[in-house]
Amino acid sequence: MDSLEQLVNSAQADFLAAPDAAALENAKAKYLGKTGQITALMKGLGQLEASERKAQGAVINAAKEQIEQALNARRDALANAQMLARLNAESIDITLPGRGRSIGGLHPVLRSWQRIEEIFKSIGFAVADGPEIEDDWTNFTALNNPENHPARSMQDTFYIDGQDSSGKPLLLRPHTSPVQVRYARHNKPPIKVIAPGRTYRVDSDATHSPMFHQVEGLWIADNISFADLKGVYLNFVRAFFETDDLQVRFRPSYFPFTEPSAEIDIAFGSGPLKGRWLEVSGAGQVHPTVVRNFGLDPEQFVGFAFGSGIERLTMLRYGINDLRLFYEGDLRFLKQFN
Ligand code: PHE
Repeated sequence: MDSLEQLVNSAQADFLAAPDAAALENAKAKYLGKTGQITALMKGLGQLEASERKAQGAVINAAKEQIEQALNARRDALANAQMLARLNAESIDITLPGRGRSIGGLHPVLRSWQRIEEIFKSIGFAVADGPEIEDDWTNFTALNNPENHPARSMQDTFYIDGQDSSGKPLLLRPHTSPVQVRYARHNKPPIKVIAPGRTYRVDSDATHSPMFHQVEGLWIADNISFADLKGVYLNFVRAFFETDDLQVRFRPSYFPFTEPSAEIDIAFGSGPLKGRWLEVSGAGQVHPTVVRNFGLDPEQFVGFAFGSGIERLTMLRYGINDLRLFYEGDLRFLKQFN
């Protein structure tokens, strides 16, 4: 039986020496293939006496099993080695820091915008918007700015290339008041709406930016008076600034589209701005001509309008002293609001 043991030993050695799967299959053929040595021994059993055949068969089978075991062990080992090699070759360096995603935040002006919408919605105002590129009629004429009237230059308007259907140049709206006209001409009274949005003027300093934001307010029905304007606006600034400790003052003013007209000032009862009157809005009773341009009878419908600067409100709320900070994109500034 020495020879069988040698056979097993040599098979084990051959398998171990096989450097890869192909070499291993060749080595296997030498022992277990059709003309392999174990196969030959099995075939030889037929020539033995029946009595010896059984014992000899068992011994050969045991050797065969050992060889098969060695073969499988080597197969596993080679497969593992191959997998390891792949893992090493294709490894990724998980210690590199990820690219990351920083969390964004809302711009302070947008925060105010959303706040304003919430406050006015809570007292029944709808929210509307209108185009930033306006035509002459909607921005001026309908709002009672007669042609060639000096009041047209009250706001330094940006004109742009292109004309409306009457041949007048198109413009970037210098206020949100044209949305009054658009909304009122498409909705039936009672009209109770705010229109926040971007506005543009040829103007740039610490308190003016060529692009800024206003919120327009309009309430038209058969019995809306200046007293309602006072009540609504007082309620608004108290909610917006989260304090009842402030006063509101209506200072006579002029706008072509309101009569009487007022500037609305507020004064805080405490804090760094305590006692100083700060202008936050234009306002007034909507001019009868404007009501007529809404397509309504000014004998039947009356009401008020206001237009407030959203940057101004935001600056007062957070104590910001330079409006340009809003548009410089400096994260050190912007991060403070989130
Ligand atoms: N549109 C005016 C402005 O931009 C503000 C305003 C709106 C005044 C509505 C009165 C009524 O200055």
